[in-house]
Amino acid sequence: MNNVKIAPSVLSADFAKMGDEVAGLQRFGADMIHVDVMDGVFVPNITFGIKMVKDIRPYTKLPFDVHLMIVEPWKYVERFAAAGADYITVHAEACGERTAETLKRIRGCGAKCGVVINPDTPAEKAEAVLDLCDMAVVMGVHPGFGGQKYIEEVGKKIARLAGALKARKSAALLELDGGVTEENAAKIASLGANVLVAGSAVFGAKDKKAAIARLKGI
Ligand code: DX5
Ligand code: ZN
Repeated sequence: MNNVKIAPSVLSADFAKMGDEVAGLQRFGADMIHVDVMDGVFVPNITFGIKMVKDIRPYTKLPFDVHLMIVEPWKYVERFAAAGADYITVHAEACGERTAETLKRIRGCGAKCGVVINPDTPAEKAEAVLDLCDMAVVMGVHPGFGGQKYIEEVGKKIARLAGALKARKSAALLELDGGVTEENAAKIASLGANVLVAGSAVFGAKDKKAAIARLKGI
């Protein structure tokens, strides 16, 4: 597993201690902080928003990978960028015909952008905007909750998008979000994902540093 990056999801952290949880992740070897924003409309769960990103930003130098599981995400991208998001990713399902425009708008405010596709969404929806992306994200679970089981079928989309990025000689990252465990991380990375989001696999571990190292295959 050469150079796979681990992006722990703070969805599984203790929200009452978010600053300390984020600071800890840097010491434990995480590469990015994955921040799951949910609105209770696009997904059946609610987390937090712009102010959380702003308030936890000073606790780490690691890049923030902000995953917007919200409807009409284009309305909020400037504010998430200003709050300190390094990457802002938006769902093809939420953006529809406005996907390309939303990605450009994210870049326009100085952040890196990415498209996310749900388990039932074909890889073509991401491929159509790949040239506009700094990251492509394949969901390994139906979004909304941490701790779900990885849906094996999405592996085909990871391999396909890895091939599409290679064909374009693109340096964009390919992230798999949801269901990553110490048991399946190596296989997912071997399909071509180079960023693995891990919520419960990190926060559910007694020793987070050891868990992150094992996910990286060290
Ligand atoms: C799911 C979120 C994921 C989730 C990952 O809606 O987008 O980022 O927190 O959690 P685990 O790793 O526990 O599947
Ligand atoms: Zn996520």
